[in-house]
Amino acid sequence: MEKAKVSAPGKIILSGEHSVVYGQPAIVTALDKRLFVEIKEGRGKTEIITDEDPNLAYYALLKTEEFLKEKLPVLRIKIQSEIPVNRGLGSSAALAVTMVTALLNYLKKELDKNLINQIAFEIEKKQHGKPSGCDNSIATFGGTIEFRRGKIKSLKIKPNFGFVLIDSGRAVESTGEMVALVRRKFNYLKTKKVIKKIGKATVQLIKELKKDDFNKLKLKTLIAENEKLLEELGVIGKKAQKIIREIEDISGTAKICGAGGIKSGSGIILGFHQNQEKLKSLLRKRNIAFFKAKIHQKGVRVEKD
Ligand code: MEV
Repeated sequence: MEKAKVSAPGKIILSGEHSVVYGQPAIVTALDKRLFVEIKEGRGKTEIITDEDPNLAYYALLKTEEFLKEKLPVLRIKIQSEIPVNRGLGSSAALAVTMVTALLNYLKKELDKNLINQIAFEIEKKQHGKPSGCDNSIATFGGTIEFRRGKIKSLKIKPNFGFVLIDSGRAVESTGEMVALVRRKFNYLKTKKVIKKIGKATVQLIKELKKDDFNKLKLKTLIAENEKLLEELGVIGKKAQKIIREIEDISGTAKICGAGGIKSGSGIILGFHQNQEKLKSLLRKRNIAFFKAKIHQKGVRVEKD
């Protein structure tokens, strides 16, 4: 029986979330947590098996049909994911990219990554309103990219600079709601200034990360500055701010790495300390979940089995 199995990675933004929506650069890297889609022939009507809300996956079917200008056959689609949802890790982009690629693969069409990225961006618009397109781009192309106004530059950076990913809790707001919240404030001069400053910090971080022997202290300063500016934008809730202040109190630094959230959790926080054990021991003491992750991972790919 015909079958297609495809996976795509989640992501973290090292710098530039929100400001990237307004044309500033962002540094985005692919994580070692992936979402898998398996497609087989279906019976009766198309069925989507998933633990999460299937709406976006159904929308991905419609959008792909629209782009291909042909009706899809009846399918049985199974979605499995290692990427936690509503935590700023790009789970919806990974779903969009994986769905499109799996459909093209099942239909034996060419896997043109530019086309996949373009269709996935249309699907992302349903989920996020006016997204920048950085999430679908990293899920498609992988690695670490500098993303600005739809342009993607691959960044050769050290695979890991020793950080942990900390769970500040699921955001109750969607990325679209958080983007809309910033957009409502965008006409204020103060907001425009903050967005420009985030852009400046991102440019500096790109320069730093490109160096063979990057300065960890500089990295720490830039992450801290990015976080401060995101707090000024008003996208980080009290719970996450409390965790971040505690990390700063032990001379570490931390920032959110997606859209954030204010009513409850703000998603995953990137935590950095020159003595990582110190950071881990604080998190254990406070009972805050964290995990180590690999970055710079492969983009969408067809799986053997
Ligand atoms: C994406 O993960 C985070 C935002 O920058 C929105 C976007 O780029 O579309 C907040």
